[in-house]
Amino acid sequence: MTHILTLAGSPASPSRSSALLAYCARLLEADGITADALAVRDLDAADLLHANVKGPTIQDALVRVAAADGIIIATPVYKAAYTGVLKAFLDVLPGGALAHKIVLPLVSGASSGHALVLDYALKPVLAALNAGLILNGVYLLDSQFEHANGAITRFTADDAETRLIESVQNFAKALHHLADAPES
Ligand SMILES: Cc1cc2nc3c(=O)[nH]c(=O)nc-3n(C[C@H](O)[C@H](O)[C@H](O)COP(=O)(O)O)c2cc1C
Repeated sequence: MTHILTLAGSPASPSRSSALLAYCARLLEADGITADALAVRDLDAADLLHANVKGPTIQDALVRVAAADGIIIATPVYKAAYTGVLKAFLDVLPGGALAHKIVLPLVSGASSGHALVLDYALKPVLAALNAGLILNGVYLLDSQFEHANGAITRFTADDAETRLIESVQNFAKALHHLADAPES
């Protein structure tokens, strides 16, 4: 059974970028892929800030990352980058934590001027964690979708839903390919 983790990097609740994750998880579950949901904001703040990898919520998160075949990671743009809380969590992951995993990055932001956060800020960190395959990812503007109660209620731009669905399909395809590959 293929199993993934959604990793929410926003300190906010409700959260736009987290609603993207819920949308993707629902699509994947319809494809027989199970999804666990981890929100960095739920981890113990002191342990995160002190990089205390022995803290119980951090330990639990590390186990959940390790158990996933793939990870969808979503962050809002904060000051032209990903969020600080997300970076604090990525910093406690051991080197190689994403090895052999397929990673789909998603970013939401208010300005189209910051779309390159995906390529210039987030992807290099994922590469540093040795991600097996980093997919293209999707940047969505706040103006392109509406959300409520943790879910997307409406896409307001013609191509927004299509781009998201295509990215999830590519993610699922890569996961199935990984599952079918002989063990090395
Ligand atoms: C502290 C803060 C900083 C932000 N900085 C940016 C920014 O530099 N560029 C941008 O496009 N949007 C910026 N935004 C807007 C958020 O990225 C955007 O609203 C995002 O979709 C919020 O997602 P969330 O609800 O999951 O936190 C900022 C929002 C906050 C609260």
